[in-house]
Amino acid sequence: MGLMAIEACGGINMSDRTYILGIESSCDETSCAVVADGGEVLSNVVASQVDLHAKYGGVVPEIASRAHIEAINSVIAEAIELASIPIDQISAVAVANQPGLIGSLLIGLMAAKTLAWVHGLPLVGVNHIYAHAYSPAIDSEPIEYPALAMVASGGHTALYRCDSPIELELLGSTIDDAAGEAFDKVANILGLGYPGGPVIDKLARGGNPKAVDFPRSLLKGQSLDFSFSGLKTAVLYHVNGVPGARRKPSQPEVGLENLSESDIADIAASFQAAVVDVLKIKLRRAAKIAKPKSLVIGGGVSANSGLRQGAAELADALGCSLRLPALKYCQDNAAMIAGAGYHYLKAGLTAGLDLDARATVSR
Ligand code: KG4
Ligand code: ZN
Repeated sequence: MGLMAIEACGGINMSDRTYILGIESSCDETSCAVVADGGEVLSNVVASQVDLHAKYGGVVPEIASRAHIEAINSVIAEAIELASIPIDQISAVAVANQPGLIGSLLIGLMAAKTLAWVHGLPLVGVNHIYAHAYSPAIDSEPIEYPALAMVASGGHTALYRCDSPIELELLGSTIDDAAGEAFDKVANILGLGYPGGPVIDKLARGGNPKAVDFPRSLLKGQSLDFSFSGLKTAVLYHVNGVPGARRKPSQPEVGLENLSESDIADIAASFQAAVVDVLKIKLRRAAKIAKPKSLVIGGGVSANSGLRQGAAELADALGCSLRLPALKYCQDNAAMIAGAGYHYLKAGLTAGLDLDARATVSR
């Protein structure tokens, strides 16, 4: 391994293997990874802040930024040490510069710029949602294109037609809550703590998905956008009653304190079934447009067992391959940033030290 066969690639030295150092700090994970050739993970260090935010029931941006500052240097040092690659064999520094919490993004971006400047390395800005759509290729086979990708996380729910790891066309996105956000809010309503996705997923396995007929909001016509706020409100009203409505004597008492463990499992299962149904219906609609060879699911919600099973059924019906990230690459991680960054670098899409962080990406 090493700098044996060096070829010029847009002014950038590419060894026979291309090692990218990736940095991710878009939300509440501080992560650094070294990845070879867009897929082989040499190291992927993730420092999660989940314990810091749990007591607030969600990510507090100010706390997240401070925790990134405290963690970033040691996370980078550990990733480089674990990779056992001298820094002079790294080809570029890739960083998630959008979208995300602006204060959080800026910490990773400053660290990436510093490394790039000190070591004279190209800097690559990576859209972190695109990286989620690439995450099934990490430590796995390349994705076959065109692909239909759905990224469902705590901050985003979006559908893309992808022609390559870096050519993504947005087909639809959420108009209110993201799918992961709905899991987190419903878990909060059910008193299950934060983050909500894993615990609802676990409880749903023991509940009846048909117990409560929660709404499936599909929006008008053949819309490929998503809306989850109505579903969240339906769960709230189911648990606490509709505000102002009178309870008939024949109806059970409302309120969380009146629900049994099995009631809560039934609500979790019914809520999860509603989310998975909506995601599947939108994927099926989008597949008519994208005509994909692969169905790709990424983002924190792609860890959901109901969604993984539903996606497998759908891919079978569509006759395309299903690409799911390994569970450790569902959540935010720098391996997917370094992996996607490799393709940006190959395409010559490097950035200057004036690269900006952006909270949102325009459609
Ligand atoms: O991608 P991610 O780590 O961070 C963002 O970019 O937002 O996603 C975090 C989200 C949280 O909302 C969390 O509740 C959800 O992913 N999540 C899940 C599961 N595991 C994590 N949602 C449903 N089922 C799961 N098993
Ligand atoms: Zn994410």
